[in-house]
Amino acid sequence: MASSLRIWHPFTNFALDPAPIEIDRAEGVWLHAKDGRKIIDAVSSWWVNIHGHSNPRIASAIAAQARKMEHVILAGFTHEPAEELATRLRKWVPPQLTHLFFSDDGSTAVEVALKLAVQHFSNLGHPEKCEIVALEHGYHGDTAGAMSVSDESPFTDPFRSMRYAVHRVPSPYLYRRPAGTTPEAYLQHCVDRLTALLEEKSSSIACIILEPLLQAAGGMIVHPVEYLRRVRELCTRHDVLLVADEVLTGFGRTGKMFACDLAAIQPDLMCLSKGITGGFLPMGVTLCSDRVAAAFHSENRLHTFYHGHSYTGNALACAAAVESLRIFDDEPVFDRIAAVARVNTERLAQLSDFSVVGETRQLGTMGAVELRAEDPGYLSAMRPKLYRFFLDRGVLLRPLGNVVYVLPPYVISAAELHHVYDIITEAIETLF
Ligand SMILES: Cc1ncc(COP(=O)(O)O)c(C=O)c1O
Repeated sequence: MASSLRIWHPFTNFALDPAPIEIDRAEGVWLHAKDGRKIIDAVSSWWVNIHGHSNPRIASAIAAQARKMEHVILAGFTHEPAEELATRLRKWVPPQLTHLFFSDDGSTAVEVALKLAVQHFSNLGHPEKCEIVALEHGYHGDTAGAMSVSDESPFTDPFRSMRYAVHRVPSPYLYRRPAGTTPEAYLQHCVDRLTALLEEKSSSIACIILEPLLQAAGGMIVHPVEYLRRVRELCTRHDVLLVADEVLTGFGRTGKMFACDLAAIQPDLMCLSKGITGGFLPMGVTLCSDRVAAAFHSENRLHTFYHGHSYTGNALACAAAVESLRIFDDEPVFDRIAAVARVNTERLAQLSDFSVVGETRQLGTMGAVELRAEDPGYLSAMRPKLYRFFLDRGVLLRPLGNVVYVLPPYVISAAELHHVYDIITEAIETLF
């Protein structure tokens, strides 16, 4: 009999992928493996870590909360860490967003947003206004609903039967625009397609969901600010709710606290997760406006939002999130973000000189290089070669197929980030 259950690692092929590396300890941007290796976490451990691993302030806040009260059911009860988080978030989130619903992770924050949008119209007597619009190249998570609004990809391929239908509109992925069109014309085309859809079908559409300004898993695709502004205008004109999935872009990633701030727009619903607890504990949050919530302020029991997860509003996760926001208040977090962005800008400019580099893209702390590939996309043969090359040199990067990107914790030093870019440069020089 085997001595232990075999851990089934996410996004990992049993036959093709190398054995996992055992990490013993992590500090700042460094992962310390049990075999003595030191690895720079240049992807913030799936984009969650912002203030560095084992941040002592967040660690202490969680420990103190655990000694007092670890978790209590949030239906019919509340507690100080949840209330304090709601108060502290108020300062940062777009003012139109007034209500907060807790869940467990990015996918559940998305599920909640979509269900709130649909039930909002149902409660108002418009159950027919229940369809959803989503973008090509979008990614919103791996649960069935989040997978439905995500674009088709190798991740969703076996689950066609489980995905509900959505209206799919083009994404202003200007680098991959059709041959013969200008970036401006393609952007206009994307807006026109959405306009035509809403003009024809808005009476049956509840919401549009998108990753504002940065489609992450789809290939670190940066959208023009203009697109998001136009989507906001169209939603308002056609009474369709705008859901901003800021699961990745939230908490400073893009240079502002939220991507919506960069475009100076306010969504009707917003999904948060990943960086919310500084990367310590899972938590999802869905925010919505008074207008969305008003449809649930009803004496009809059937107008209740019957949704909740066991660990909703977990006190330890709330304590971590509160401390993370205190760090934003007390420490020069936006200076750190600006420093990361400066190195990204400098090094991406250098990388763009290589002939194998098709395009470089940046949004704040995210820097990406799209390599020219015969087989572009997540399953590009470039990916495993690059992944291994980086790891062999002590850098954790997880290319999205032929797109190599850097998305580090904000505490990475200039020297550490330059080192990451040196390794990327070496890979480009030697592998292709
Ligand atoms: C934009 C976006 N939304 C949702 C998710 C899903 O989050 P989770 O993996 O925490 O379920 C992700 C995850 O990468 C994401 O990037």
